[in-house]
Amino acid sequence: MAAKKEIRTIGVLTSGGDAPGMNAAIRAVVRTALGKGLKVRGIRKGFQGLMDEDIIDLSARDVSDTIQRGGTILQTARCEEMRTEEGQQKAAAICKKYGIDGLVVIGGDGSFAGALKLAELGINTIGLPGTIDLDIACTEYTIGFDTAVNTAMEAIDKIRDTSTSHERCSIVEVMGRDAGYLALWCGIANGAERILLPEEHDYNEKAIIEDIQACRKRGKKNYIIINAEGIGDSINMAKRIEEATGMETRATILGHMQRGGSPTCKDRVYASIMGAMAVDLLSEGKTNRVVGYRHGEYVDFDIKEALGMNKGIPDYQYEIARELAL
Ligand code: F6P
Repeated sequence: MAAKKEIRTIGVLTSGGDAPGMNAAIRAVVRTALGKGLKVRGIRKGFQGLMDEDIIDLSARDVSDTIQRGGTILQTARCEEMRTEEGQQKAAAICKKYGIDGLVVIGGDGSFAGALKLAELGINTIGLPGTIDLDIACTEYTIGFDTAVNTAMEAIDKIRDTSTSHERCSIVEVMGRDAGYLALWCGIANGAERILLPEEHDYNEKAIIEDIQACRKRGKKNYIIINAEGIGDSINMAKRIEEATGMETRATILGHMQRGGSPTCKDRVYASIMGAMAVDLLSEGKTNRVVGYRHGEYVDFDIKEALGMNKGIPDYQYEIARELAL
C-alpha cells in the first residue's frame, strides 16, 4: 500500500506489554523524523491514549537520557475499544484531528491488528515488533527479548547456586503465556534438565519424576525445570514432585521483573535501527508495513501478510536442549 500524501507529522505509540528497548525505538523515531523536518507527536498509553486524546508534542530533548531506560516513556496499555469498528473509526478520526498522517505502532501482534485497521482507514502506519515473547512470526528479533532472556538467565543462575547447595529441585517459571521462546532459550542457556513449553501442553510429569529419581541415584546435586507461564501451576507442581521424589523442591515465579530493566546493547541497537527505518519507510511513501529482522537483514512486510504468518518452536532446537540436559 502506498501512502496517500506527503507526511508532515508522525505519531508514535507503544502498545501491549512493555519491553526493554522501546525507549530506544521511540528516540529513533523522534530524532529521525525531526532530522527530516517533520513534527512528532507522542501518544501516551497506547491506543487507549489515542482514544483519550492523550497526545503530546515531542522534541529531540524529550528523548534525551532515555535509551538506557527500561519500560516505555510513553507508557502503554491494552485497549478493548480498538478491537471494535467504532473504536477504529474514532482512532483514525483523532489521528486526522491532530494532523497525524504517519503513525508508528510499537508492540506485538495485537497492536499490529489495530495498526492494520488504521492503515485501511487512511492513516499511514508502520509497526515495529516490541515484545519480550519473541512471538511475532515475520521476524527473528523482537524488541525486548534479548534483555528479558538475559534477565531471566541471570536469575536462574542464582537459583541454581542455592539449589545445588541444598541439593534441591527448582522449578523456575518464566514469562510466556502462549509462546515458549523465553523458556527454551533459558533452558539451553541455563542447562536446565527440563523445559516445559506452552506449545507442548502434554508434558509428562511421571517421566520427570522418574528422571529426578534416576539423577539422584547418580549423585546429581540439583535439578532445574524451566516452566513457561502458559503451563503455570509451578507451586503445586513443586509440591507434587517433592512428594513423589523425596527431593526438596522449590518454585520461583520470575514474573514481571523480566519485563523491566535497562536494555542490552542488542536491544538498544536493533530498536534504534528499526525506529529510524519506520520513519524512512513513511517518508518513502510506504504504509501498512511491519519492520522485521530476517537472515541478517532489516526487512519489512505488509501487515496483513505478517499477521498471517506462523511461527512455532523449532523442533531441532528443542531436541538439542533435551540432549544437552542428559
Ligand atoms: O509482554 C508479554 C507478556 O509478558 C507475556 O509473556 C505475558 O503472558 C503477558 O505479557 C503478561 O502481561 P500482563 O501481566 O502485563 O497482563
